[in-house]
Amino acid sequence: MSKVRVGILGATGMVGQRFVTLLNNHPFFEVTVLAASNRNAGKTYEDAVSEKWSMDEEIPSYAKKMIMMNVLDIDNVSKQVDLVFSAVKMEKDEIRAFEEGYAKHEVIVVSNNSACRNIEDVPMLLPECNIDHLDALKHQKERLGTKHGFIVVKPNCSIQSYVPIFYALKEFEPEVAVVSTYQAISGAGRTFKTWPEMVENIIPYIGGEEEKSEKEPLKVMGHVENGVIVPATDLKISCTCIRVPVVDGHTASVRVSFKKKPTKEEFIKAITEFSGVPQREKLPHAPKQFMYYFEENDRPQVKLDVNLEGGMAVTVGRLEEDNIFQYKFVALSHNTLRGAAGGGLLTAETLYALHYFDR
Ligand SMILES: NC(=O)c1ccc[n+]([C@@H]2O[C@H](COP(=O)([O-])OP(=O)(O)OC[C@H]3O[C@@H](n4cnc5c(N)ncnc54)[C@H](OP(=O)(O)O)[C@@H]3O)[C@@H](O)[C@H]2O)c1
Repeated sequence: MSKVRVGILGATGMVGQRFVTLLNNHPFFEVTVLAASNRNAGKTYEDAVSEKWSMDEEIPSYAKKMIMMNVLDIDNVSKQVDLVFSAVKMEKDEIRAFEEGYAKHEVIVVSNNSACRNIEDVPMLLPECNIDHLDALKHQKERLGTKHGFIVVKPNCSIQSYVPIFYALKEFEPEVAVVSTYQAISGAGRTFKTWPEMVENIIPYIGGEEEKSEKEPLKVMGHVENGVIVPATDLKISCTCIRVPVVDGHTASVRVSFKKKPTKEEFIKAITEFSGVPQREKLPHAPKQFMYYFEENDRPQVKLDVNLEGGMAVTVGRLEEDNIFQYKFVALSHNTLRGAAGGGLLTAETLYALHYFDR
């Protein structure tokens, strides 16, 4: 099979730049379109990002001279792609409209945006976890009137540090959790250069984030019934989201109780042995091991652990019995890799392994 043709929508942004680098020499996918706002349409990619390239590595050579297109030029972009990764900052109704527009042009959309996350037939995937939610695509395709095209979304970056743990412990029925997240500035698409107020600072508010961090896990933990995704109702989460002066990496401090309390050994075994389609199929961006547990009481640390397995692993530590809840622990994930572009790419690789691109 020839490579799947890929467009990156929002290619100039923080998440888009990650997609551009991760897709360099990809075995399944070939980038054929880079798109952003009309401000950049017609420019070379190199010129469009000259002031704001923020990756450690250089712009990959394949991308430098590509001519940017406008995300909203759906007719022309669709002719050149089979798949788009969508990571665009626009109003939600505008994002939903163009993402559905691409699906109706028979393009598969893997979205990092929140606009379609609450739609009952749009799977919100953690590729190691709720892949059974792809069963809702039949319903979605009927709604959109498409044969091949559909939308899947990635959950918010904040939840990636703790929901995989709840999911791996599903048999113990997690019941109630209090979570505090300590979130990196790249999660807002910013750097210390563009956000100097964050140097040596903490901001105890991230607009809209707490609602997503409490609600989205329930959809991921839910099940498909009558063709649509029904969120879990037996888990309650309360979350506080705090912006901290860290470049990359969202840390979560979690207290949790279960209906059936696991032992500490069962807890650690369940998370460290948990795997899914990405590991079984040895996908290019799958971590060999999804979740790691550290015995050291000063881990996980952002500087030491955020890039484990190419930034695609979740690291956990400090698992202890709690005075009020059954357990407390700390977990870490990379917000623009596992939590954004890497998670989106692994989702697309999973769709590839499951033959969704076969025509
Ligand atoms: N950063 C993270 O860790 C993270 C994690 C998960 C999800 N997300 C989500 O991913 C999306 C992108 O986030 P980001 O951090 O990459 O944002 P960003 O750095 O601000 O980039 C925004 C992108 O949107 C494009 N854009 C803005 N207005 C547009 C318009 N009217 N038409 C077409 N394109 C337009 C920009 O293009 P121009 O350069 O041409 O303006 C740019 O490519 C957001 O929905 C965000 O919530 C981000």
